[in-house]
Parts: sequence; C-alpha cells; structure tokens
Amino acid sequence: MAEPLLSLKGITRTYGSGDTPQTVLDNVSLDIHPGEMVAIMGASGSGKSTLMNIMGCLDTATSGTYLFAGRDVSQMSPDERAALRREHFGFISSANSCLAITMRWALSRSPASMPHPGRATGGGFRIDWSSGWG
Ligand SMILES: Nc1ncnc2c1ncn2[C@@H]1O[C@H](COP(=O)(O)OP(=O)(O)O)[C@@H](O)[C@H]1O
Ligand SMILES: [Mg+2]
Repeated sequence: MAEPLLSLKGITRTYGSGDTPQTVLDNVSLDIHPGEMVAIMGASGSGKSTLMNIMGCLDTATSGTYLFAGRDVSQMSPDERAALRREHFGFISSANSCLAITMRWALSRSPASMPHPGRATGGGFRIDWSSGWG
C-alpha cells in the first residue's frame, strides 16, 4: 500500500505538570492514507479534540512521532507548519456543528418555545450568532 498521508506513532499528550499532570492521549498510533475517510469517535472528554489539534498542527504531542507525507512535523519550522495548516487542513469547529443542530432544532419548533438567543422576526427566526452556542 502507498505511504500514509498522516502517520501517528506512539503519540502522547499530557496537560499540566507537577502534582496533577493529565495524560489525555496515551500511545496513540494511526495511519490515514490518501482518500481514506476516518471518523474519530469517543465520549466527551476522551481526547478527540486534543488529537485533532495535533493532527491539524495546532498543538504538538508530548511524545511520539507525527509524519505528514513522510515528513516529521516536529522537525518543520513554524512557517512550514503554518503552510500545512493553510493548504492542507480544514476545520469545522464543533461550535458550528452545534449551531447547525440548533438551527434544525429551531426550525422544528415554534418561536415562542425557543430559548435564548433565538427570537422571532415575522414568521421566522433570527439567530443571534454573537451569543455563542458552542
Ligand atoms: N488545553 C488544555 N489544558 C488542560 N486540559 C485540557 C486542555 N484541553 C483539553 N483538556 C482536557 O483533556 C481531556 C480531553 O479533552 P478533549 O480533547 O477536549 O476531549 P473531547 O474532544 O473528546 O471531548 C479533558 O479532560 C479536558 O479537560
Ligand atoms: Mg472535542
């Protein structure tokens, strides 16, 4: 099989230090090949966002190796990592997913039953985007 596009080997991520360090990712290894569709699922707090932040070069692992197209991301310059983020990764934040769910919820209910921050304008809704649902 061709070389993986993303390859994580023995990735760990520990938050904090001193008396209460928290290891959120413990020895995660994962290969993703070009064209593969992968879903990372787990309970809230299980480390999905932590892993995605590392894969998207927004954060770095505490230990382990992350190769992008065969290149060790930790050896890249900040500019090279920024170029990867700009040209290869796209994020849809969970806040937006939440908004989509909120919109669907809103459209299935009457204006009067809708909680903050939606409110009725005429026959429809106006969602207050600035109030933050995520
Ligand atoms: N920046 C951070 N500093 C300290 N702890 C964090 C940080 N980000 C996440 N955590 C902790 O790491 C754990 C996993 O969080 P997260 O990766 O957001 O999980 P998920 O996305 O699966 O809900 C949680 O216990 C969370 O409190
Ligand atoms: Mg998350």
